[in-house]
Amino acid sequence: MSNTHISASDLRATVARVVQAAGSSETEAQAVAHNLVLANLSGHDSHGVGMLPRYVDAVLEGGLIPNQGVRVTLDTGAMLALDGQRGYGQTVGEQAMQMAIDRARQHGSCIMSLAQSHHLGRIGHWAEMAVEQGLVSLQFVNVLSRPVVAPWGGADGRFGTNPVCIGVPLQGRAPFVLDFATSRVAQGKMRVAHNEGRQVELGYLIDPGGNPTTDPGVVVVPQPPSASGNLFGALMTFGEHKGYGLAVACELLGGALTGSGTWHREADTRRAVYNGMLSVLIDPARLGTQTSFESEALAFVDWLRQGPAAPGTDAVLIAGDPERAARAERERNGITVDAATWQEIVQAAAKVKVAV
Ligand SMILES: NC(=O)c1ccc[n+]([C@@H]2O[C@H](COP(=O)([O-])OP(=O)(O)OC[C@H]3O[C@@H](n4cnc5c(N)ncnc54)[C@H](O)[C@@H]3O)[C@@H](O)[C@H]2O)c1
Repeated sequence: MSNTHISASDLRATVARVVQAAGSSETEAQAVAHNLVLANLSGHDSHGVGMLPRYVDAVLEGGLIPNQGVRVTLDTGAMLALDGQRGYGQTVGEQAMQMAIDRARQHGSCIMSLAQSHHLGRIGHWAEMAVEQGLVSLQFVNVLSRPVVAPWGGADGRFGTNPVCIGVPLQGRAPFVLDFATSRVAQGKMRVAHNEGRQVELGYLIDPGGNPTTDPGVVVVPQPPSASGNLFGALMTFGEHKGYGLAVACELLGGALTGSGTWHREADTRRAVYNGMLSVLIDPARLGTQTSFESEALAFVDWLRQGPAAPGTDAVLIAGDPERAARAERERNGITVDAATWQEIVQAAAKVKVAV
C-alpha cells in the first residue's frame, strides 16, 4: 500500500461526501470537511481526516448525532452555558464560539461553557476564531473517550489527552496560538510509530505494569496478561507533575465545571469522543489596556525573535508559527495521507455506501 497525495480541495470534497452520506446536511458536511482538512494543513494529522472513520462509527452507533445545534442552558449576558447535545463539534463548537465572541464584544468578556460536544478537533481552531476578532481566548478541554493518560506517579491510564489553548492577538501580526494536548505525545502518533515498527523515546509511555517503555504498541494493541490485569499501558503527561496538574485542571474545568462530566470509570469500546470546553474570552479594548497591550506584546515578541537561534534550529518561533508554515507549504504542495489512514477512510466511506 502506498500513501495518497491529494490537494486540500479534493480531500475536503471526499470528506464532505462521506459525512453527508452519514446523515449530515450539506452545510454540516462542508464544515466538518473544512475543519478536519484544516488540521491536516496545519500539520496536525492526528486531528485531521484520520478522525473520519471514528466519526462514521460514532454516528452508526448513535453516540454522535448529525445536524444538532447548541441548547442554551444558562444565559446571563457575559456568562453562557451551552449543551452540544452530542452533535458534531464542528457545528456546535462554531455556534458556541460565535455566541461567545458576540457576548465578549458586547460586555467586554464572556465565560462560555460547552458541554457534551462531540470531538472539537484542533482546539486552536476555536481560539483562532476569537483572535481574528481581536479577542484573547483561553480554552480548557476534557476528553471522554478512553482513559489513555496516566496521572504523575500513577501506573495506569485515568483520563484523556485533555488539551489547553491560549490565543492572543498581536496588532498587525500573526497571532500567538498555543494549543497542545497535556499528554507528552498524541495517541495517534503512537499508532503510526507502532504501525511502522518504530520504538519511541523513554518518557512517553508506561507499560501495563506502570514501568517506562519505548514500545508504542502498549497503547495501541491489547498486551499479554500481566499481574496488573491491565490490557493497555498509558501515555505520560508532558512536564512531569506540572503537565499532570494542567491535565487535571482541564478535567475539573472542561469536564466538571461545564457540566459535561469527568472520566471515572473503566474503558469501553464505544467510538464516540466527547469534549467539554470552558472558554474565557477577553476584549483588551474593554479592559482599558489596549494601547499598552498592543505595544508591550509586540515589543516582547520582537525581543524573543531577535534572540540567537540555538545550534540545530533556524530561528526562535512563537506558538502558531509552525501551523502557519505548514499551511503555506501544504496548500501549495498538497497533503499526504498515510496508506493505513487512507484505507480506513475507504472502509468508513463504504459503510455509508460511498465509493472513494
Ligand atoms: N479535541 C480533542 O479531544 C483533542 C485532544 C488532544 C489534542 N487535541 C489537539 O491536537 C493538536 C495537537 O496537539 P499536540 O500536543 O500534539 O501539539 P504539539 O505538541 O505539536 O504542540 C503544538 C503547540 O506548540 C507550538 N509549537 C510547536 N513548535 C514550536 C516551536 N518550535 N516554537 C514555539 N512554539 C511551538 C505550536 O504552535 C502549538 O501551539 C492540538 O491542536 C490539540 O488541540 C485535541
